[in-house]
Amino acid sequence: METPKHIAIIMDGNGRWATSKNLSRSEGHREGSIAIDRLMDSAMEFDLKYISLYAFSTENWKRPIAEIKAIFNLLDEFISTRLEKIKKNNIKVLHSGSESKVPLQSMKQIKRAIKETEKNTGIVLNFCLNYGSQDEILNSISLLIHDRISKNKDLTKKIKKEELENFFYTYPIPDVDLMIRTAGEQRISNFLLWQSAYAEIYFTDCLWPDFDKKELKLALDWYAGRTRKFGGLK
Ligand code: IPE
Ligand code: IPE
Ligand code: MG
Repeated sequence: METPKHIAIIMDGNGRWATSKNLSRSEGHREGSIAIDRLMDSAMEFDLKYISLYAFSTENWKRPIAEIKAIFNLLDEFISTRLEKIKKNNIKVLHSGSESKVPLQSMKQIKRAIKETEKNTGIVLNFCLNYGSQDEILNSISLLIHDRISKNKDLTKKIKKEELENFFYTYPIPDVDLMIRTAGEQRISNFLLWQSAYAEIYFTDCLWPDFDKKELKLALDWYAGRTRKFGGLK
C-alpha cells in the first residue's frame, strides 16, 4: 500500500466536540491533545514519516484571550508530560511558524523538545504553531532579500523555487502528500498552501477529539486509492 510520506492535519472540531458534551471549549482542546498522543501511536504502527499538526494559526489570535491561554497552557503541558515518551519513541520534534507573540514559556518548551529530540531518526512531528502560509511566504521573501544583501548578490535576479523554499518555516520537510481536515469543514485555512500544491485532500466529519486509529486508517486507505499525476499523465 502506498503510504504518504508527509501527512498534514488540520485538527478541527475541538470546540464543537466540547459543546456537544456540555463542556467548556478548553476541555475540547484538552481532549484534542489526547488525540495527538493517540495519533502518534498509530503513526508508528503505520510507519509514517512526517506529520505536520496545525495547532494554532496566525488567525487564531482573534479568539478570546482565555481560550488562547488555555491552548498554550495545554501545549506546555503536552510537552512536559509527553516528552519522555516522544524521546523513547525516537520521534523528532520540529516547529513551523512565527515565534512572535507566542508566550515565552511555550517557546521555551518547544525549543527544549526540539533540542532533546534533534538526533532522533524516527517520525518527524512538526508542530505548526502560530503558523500561517501567507505569513510564511512573506517572511521567506524578506529573509531572501536580507540574505542577498548580506552576500552582495543581485537583488533583481529572478527567484528560483528552491531558493525561496530554503527560507520556509517547514524547510527541509518535503511537500505534503496527504492533507486531512477533521470536523466537516472543507477549506485549507491558510495551512501549508505552497507545500500542498499537489497534496491529496481528505475531509472527514469526525471531530478531532474523536480521531483515532480507525479514522487514520480510513484516510490512508482513501489515499492509497488515489492516482497522483502532478500535471502529467498516468
Ligand atoms: C481546532 O478546534 C483547534 C484550534 C483551532 C486550536 P476549534 O477550536 O477550531 O473547534 P471548532 O471549530 O470551534 O469546533
Ligand atoms: C484551523 O482551524 C486552525 C487550526 C486547526 C489550528 P480553525 O477552526 O481556526 O479554522 P476556521 O476559522 O474554521 O477556518
Ligand atoms: Mg475550528
